[in-house]
Amino acid sequence: MRTQVGIIGAGPAGLLLSHLLHLVGIESVILEARDRPYVEGRIRAGVLEQGTVDVLNDTGLGARMNTEGLLHHGTTLRFRGRNHHIDFVDLTGKAVMVYGQHEVVKDIIAQRLADGGKIVFEAADVAAHGIESDAPSITWRDKDGKDYTLDCDFIAGCDGFHGICRPAIPAALQQNYERVYPFGWLGILARSKPVQEELIYNLHDRGFALFSMRTPEITRLYLQCQPDEDIANWSDDRIWAELHHRLEGEDRLKLAEGPILQKSVTPMRSFVSTPMRHGRLFLAGDSAHIVPPTGAKGMNLAVADVRYLSRALDAYYKKNSSDLLGSYSDLCLRRIWKAQRFSWWMTSLLHKFDERNAFENEVQLSELDYVVSSRAAKTSLAENYVGLPFEDQ
Ligand code: APR
Ligand code: PHB
Repeated sequence: MRTQVGIIGAGPAGLLLSHLLHLVGIESVILEARDRPYVEGRIRAGVLEQGTVDVLNDTGLGARMNTEGLLHHGTTLRFRGRNHHIDFVDLTGKAVMVYGQHEVVKDIIAQRLADGGKIVFEAADVAAHGIESDAPSITWRDKDGKDYTLDCDFIAGCDGFHGICRPAIPAALQQNYERVYPFGWLGILARSKPVQEELIYNLHDRGFALFSMRTPEITRLYLQCQPDEDIANWSDDRIWAELHHRLEGEDRLKLAEGPILQKSVTPMRSFVSTPMRHGRLFLAGDSAHIVPPTGAKGMNLAVADVRYLSRALDAYYKKNSSDLLGSYSDLCLRRIWKAQRFSWWMTSLLHKFDERNAFENEVQLSELDYVVSSRAAKTSLAENYVGLPFEDQ
């Protein structure tokens, strides 16, 4: 089998890359370890920056997002039991869209298949070969035990944090940067009416809580917890009691309860691996970087990476120019580090850190107070949250 770009991983990065390449006439094949229902049902974050919304709309992927997604003109920071509104549109002229990552994934899979795209699900033992040569290839085994080889010009490593592509780059050439946080998020999806139209990022003495939603009937809620928290210790009643305790305050905000449809614990880390290119292998999305979810940047960074990568590959095939492929890693990393800084800052601002003393806790509250009372500080938060401009326009 032969194609121009072999893509490993059918998350948002791999799927969108395949679609963007198709639009400029470049062929690709995607190899995905899991089956289609698993990939389409995996619940992840759900906030799309304005630039991500624009990419999806401009490339014909926006129809369902525009009818089912929820446009948010701002967000709420909550501390000492009171809400403080940040108006993104007033501060930046931009907004964000709340639309689940797995819905984006479903939309791109449907479009790729309608366009005759090739996605191989349940590909086992996927391996990248010859990435330092001009003729790389990918091998895998299908679910019946049959072996395959895909010859290609380039390999896109879109296989997430636990994938095989990042480790294919020689360790001596790689530099990894990492921060592991001393907490995780316990997340639930519940059939209950959202308490207000916008998200609430809440700091409480017992830790962070986030109120979010997916639809006007489905609420998404998170609680700061231990990084290795055992979900078995959290009955539905205990989760609701803790959510009421952390999110409700003197202003009588009242969370509506409902059946819990899904619960999980996610550890929190910041991670960047450089460079994002080695020979003919290009990393994109979570395979090269992870952010803590507080800034809602994960999927948006994946979209920005593959947008750059598709442009670089287009220049290679149309103009026979490798310049953009050469600058791919540096260009992506400038945006990634800004998103890393923002995600780290939001995380530091909004979580309870056991190691902080009383003085440091007061400084943290005072920083929140400053952010919500200074237009300059609110604008800084807002312009990062709605997404910084792409640098190659
Ligand atoms: N072979 C084939 N596929 C693999 C392999 C492998 N060895 N390892 C992982 N995969 C697949 C996973 O099953 C998954 O479908 O690669 C895909 C990677 O997708 P994501 O983890 O969603 O990563 P990415 O596309 O970069 O999207 C980043 O996902 O984790 C969130 O917060 C993150 O929103 C961000 C987004
Ligand atoms: C979510 O709705 O899942 C969500 C929203 C905002 C975040 C993280 C997750 O910062």
